Amino acid sequence: MNDVRESTYLAWAKLRSRAKYNLATSGIMGYPLRELQVSWQDLEINGPDAYGYRPLLEGLAQKSSVTPDCIVAAEGTSMANHLAMAALVEPGDDVLIERPSYGPILEVASYLRANILRFERRAECDFQIDSDEIAQRITPKTRLICLTNLHNPSGALVREDDLARVGEIAQKAGAQVLVDEVYLEMVYDQPVRSSFQLGANFVVTTSLTKAYGLSGLRCGWIVAQPELAKRMWRLNDLFGATPVHPGEQLSVAALDQLGKIDERARRLLATNRKALEAFFSGRSDLEGYRSRWGTVSFPRLIDGSVDEFCDFLRKRYDTSVVPGRFFEMPDHFRIGIGGDPAMTAEALQRLAAALDEWGANRA
Ligand SMILES: Cc1ncc(COP(=O)(O)O)c(C=O)c1O
Repeated sequence: MNDVRESTYLAWAKLRSRAKYNLATSGIMGYPLRELQVSWQDLEINGPDAYGYRPLLEGLAQKSSVTPDCIVAAEGTSMANHLAMAALVEPGDDVLIERPSYGPILEVASYLRANILRFERRAECDFQIDSDEIAQRITPKTRLICLTNLHNPSGALVREDDLARVGEIAQKAGAQVLVDEVYLEMVYDQPVRSSFQLGANFVVTTSLTKAYGLSGLRCGWIVAQPELAKRMWRLNDLFGATPVHPGEQLSVAALDQLGKIDERARRLLATNRKALEAFFSGRSDLEGYRSRWGTVSFPRLIDGSVDEFCDFLRKRYDTSVVPGRFFEMPDHFRIGIGGDPAMTAEALQRLAAALDEWGANRA
């Protein structure tokens, strides 16, 4: 994976994933600007030249239950991951990354010339993490362990005691643990703590993108210990340097109104999850873990090539899902249920019809 200069998954998502019935996205459908209470008069093009816009830092800190000096603002979780990794990893360092993984995490580590090691999140273990395996895989040169919680692509929630154990293993090796929590806020039925609370060597990345349908605001952030956060702010002067100020102001407005934005997301997911459960309950041609949380699930197609099935699904049913090859598990595919409920219900019916026809053709 040397000399990576692109993300194969993101290029596919931007250019090839579209279909009228779209189950290939992983976030809640876009929140309309007209529903955000802001007036043009309150927006300004230029903001203060500093490390962070104070009202935004304070809002993000309050949301993350930390002090503002632990927050580094970034353009989405995408830039948050890049900036965090760039601050923590030198060329040749070992970085231990989950498999299956969200492609850009692997690709950024490779772009930074890290030596990539892997640990498995096995479908047969409900995509949980095995801290014993991490303890075996970590080396004296490991500077960083990377994982997602909720897991992309499976939606699995990592157990807190496993995460704490990973923190201890990393601590002994002098490594940090980077946890991408961009989906974590979609666990509605139980309290969950950010892994930042589990130890001083945890670094967390997230954004308002997935759980709230606010991708266009690019309101991402890193939560890190204050000294490290300061280093990240300085490193960011080599990347984005200065953010879009109206975006910062709109993000503050969104944080102030997050209650109603969250309510909409919960309602949408409750409806779509019912449709997803009905879809799964009739199927003997798919197997594997079914998450109760978030927007994504990652079943295995028992019979036939997933790539061929995805082509068939698109061509005959105008419906798209994400082929598992983008997550290094080519016999799975990812279904996302964050879309408009009527569209999602129709897409799931089309997926079911496509699976029926696929099965009948193979019999
Ligand atoms: C695990 C994970 N991290 C980060 C991102 C990108 O998030 P953002 O839109 O906030 O940059 C995604 C998008 O799919 C993701 O799945």
